[in-house]
Amino acid sequence: MEFREPIPGLENVPIKYTKITYIDGEKGELYYRGYNIVDLFNNSTYEETAYLLLFGKLPSPHDLEKFKEHMFEGRRTALEVIEEVSRLSTENALDRIKIGLILATKYVDSWPRFRGKQVVVDELLAVAPKILGLVHALTAYAVSLDPNIVEENLEASCAELLCKALVSDCMQKHIHILDKLLIVYADHGLSASAFAATVVASTLSSLLYALEAAISALQGPLHGGALEKVARMLEAIPLEKVEEYVSRKLAQKEKLMGFGHRVYKTYDPRAKLLKRLAAKLALNNNGLREAYLKAIALELHALKTLAAKRVYPNVDFWAATLLLIMGVRPENQLPVFVYSRTAGWLAHIIEYLENNKILRPRAIYRGPLGLKYRPLESR
Ligand code: SDX
Repeated sequence: MEFREPIPGLENVPIKYTKITYIDGEKGELYYRGYNIVDLFNNSTYEETAYLLLFGKLPSPHDLEKFKEHMFEGRRTALEVIEEVSRLSTENALDRIKIGLILATKYVDSWPRFRGKQVVVDELLAVAPKILGLVHALTAYAVSLDPNIVEENLEASCAELLCKALVSDCMQKHIHILDKLLIVYADHGLSASAFAATVVASTLSSLLYALEAAISALQGPLHGGALEKVARMLEAIPLEKVEEYVSRKLAQKEKLMGFGHRVYKTYDPRAKLLKRLAAKLALNNNGLREAYLKAIALELHALKTLAAKRVYPNVDFWAATLLLIMGVRPENQLPVFVYSRTAGWLAHIIEYLENNKILRPRAIYRGPLGLKYRPLESR
């Protein structure tokens, strides 16, 4: 097909069929492998959801045990590189995770191989749980900087390992909330980060390098970077100044972090679920209730103008609020997204490799042609 004009942002341009995630942006509905996110949020765990995304079905008890064992193997592999990562001077948790992934390439072989003309997808599905466990362990270390965090929680649930790394007084209620947060963040179709991962994987590069590309894409403020910006926004505005802040931002045609979405033109269903959790936690958590009150006020004032533009809070708005109420610092919030979304990224990479074709779009040339070179002294 000959495109006459570039498609900005490749908006709505399909690059594959998928059976992983379905998003209805008009109705505000999200499905993982055919299950509504509300159903999974209310009934499943992150481990079950990650298995579902990767293997296309809910695990049996036996499947789940094997899956966890492979994840724990990945956590043990992380112990091989955490010492090297600890010697890095970088302050940025995501950079630590990316460097940990690069260092782990000497322990984890995740290069796609061919059988005839087909990529051997089963091999990638076999190594995926190990890579997931590796990323979880690297993330737990990167946010806590505690060299023993992984060893001391080697076979903890995914939510518990994260809680021990993130929340100073981690309690069961926090583990439960983080498990739900991990479920809603686990996948969201071909977002910029999933697309970046797919581009790298389509060259048959390793899954670890593809995940590194995904994390780099996520760090941009228009994508995952919004999470930290929402948290800093909520911390910076005094409650009594929220209305004034919103009016000023919108009057200056500036974007409010945590609002709007390329696909959802109604309330993000994930934000709805997290908003309820934030309310519950805030009502039992006097000290950090202020973040909740500010978020409610900010949403109320913003929607007076933005609802008419079909711009509503997205997942990052209420995730940042929920994490703030739990005492999670803004700079430690985006790693939570990575921790969860690695399952979705791996699922998309492997699905694309089933019928791989290197991703190579084009640019429509509009420059001059046939110019003659002139020597430097004559210019
Ligand atoms: C994530 O792809 C994914 O699925 C991503 C993600 C995932 O799970 O992977 O969902 C995670 O990245 C969520 C998005 C997090 N980003 C932010 O919160 C940053 C703030 N959001 C905006 O940058 C913006 O909303 C985008 C980039 C998300 C969408 O921008 P668009 O495509 O320009 O939005 P639009 O076309 O719907 O805008 C319509 C109008 C415009 O105004 P007018 O020109 O018509 O006057 O609404 C305005 C926009 O300027 N608008 C906003 C706004 N977002 C859109 N106005 C104020 N604040 C905003 N946030």
